[in-house]
Amino acid sequence: MLKILKNKKIIISAGASGIGWATAKVCLAKGATVYLCDIEKKYLNKAAKHPQNKKKLFIYECDASDEYDVLNFFNQVQKKTKKIDALINNVGVAGPTGTLEKLSSEDWENTLKTNITSHFYFSKLSIPLLKKNKGGSIINMSSGAGIMGFPLRSPYAASKWAIVGVTKTLAMELGKFKIRVNAICPGTIKGDRMVRVIRDKSKFTKISKKTIEKEFISMASMNCWISEEDIGKMCSFLISEDAARISGQIIAVDGNATRLD
Ligand SMILES: NC(=O)c1ccc[n+]([C@@H]2O[C@H](COP(=O)([O-])OP(=O)(O)OC[C@H]3O[C@@H](n4cnc5c(N)ncnc54)[C@H](O)[C@@H]3O)[C@@H](O)[C@H]2O)c1
Repeated sequence: MLKILKNKKIIISAGASGIGWATAKVCLAKGATVYLCDIEKKYLNKAAKHPQNKKKLFIYECDASDEYDVLNFFNQVQKKTKKIDALINNVGVAGPTGTLEKLSSEDWENTLKTNITSHFYFSKLSIPLLKKNKGGSIINMSSGAGIMGFPLRSPYAASKWAIVGVTKTLAMELGKFKIRVNAICPGTIKGDRMVRVIRDKSKFTKISKKTIEKEFISMASMNCWISEEDIGKMCSFLISEDAARISGQIIAVDGNATRLD
């Protein structure tokens, strides 16, 4: 495999499972050093079994929605490196399933806090490290729900559209520092998250899980699931020199999803 990320130092939030972990593995295989954090000990322990652990992979426990925890994570990272090449703002929870009038304020606020305020914490602390590097890349994980409406998931959609706004704005603020900022909108990913999303939607709508699963897949013209590695590969491309002039873009990796309902 071409080591297109050789010498690149990359921070990934919520990186110990799912898309974040698949991305970490792709980046490690392409030569990068990865600093990842996650809230779940069981995923952190599993990730720590990777052969590059403590060589090119550094793992930390951190609640990405807690500013103090994030500050502490960056203090730990800065004991290892004074500059970084990339930040992947990957953290994001599915949030509640239901019509807006039935949602609690608490569910609304928690979804926004984890999905967008956490990105603010990570970006704010990464920008000085990217400037020291004299350039680099920020990738914000949005969603199909950041470019389309998503019935029964309004706080999630609100947070994912907010990510698009921050991406466009930050790309304009940071262009002069050679820091590129892009968002990825993953489609329906085969993995644990979609198992939970389908379960919750089935409970709410009383439609069978099998039917809901088929519906999700049919939303893409290519009638397919997207893999976690598909997103990892797009991250790796966006961080690499091959993407040196790509900034401010909202890039879907979704088999051409035309609806989300
Ligand atoms: N899975 C999909 O179908 C899909 C589709 C579109 C967008 N996305 C987005 O991609 C990103 C990753 O999705 P995923 O499916 O891998 O997620 P996931 O639900 O599988 O969770 C990934 C990791 O996030 C960690 N995490 C959760 N809350 C955290 C917190 N407060 N602090 C630190 N870590 C935390 C979990 O412990 C887990 O290891 C999210 O932003 C998500 O919204 C996912």
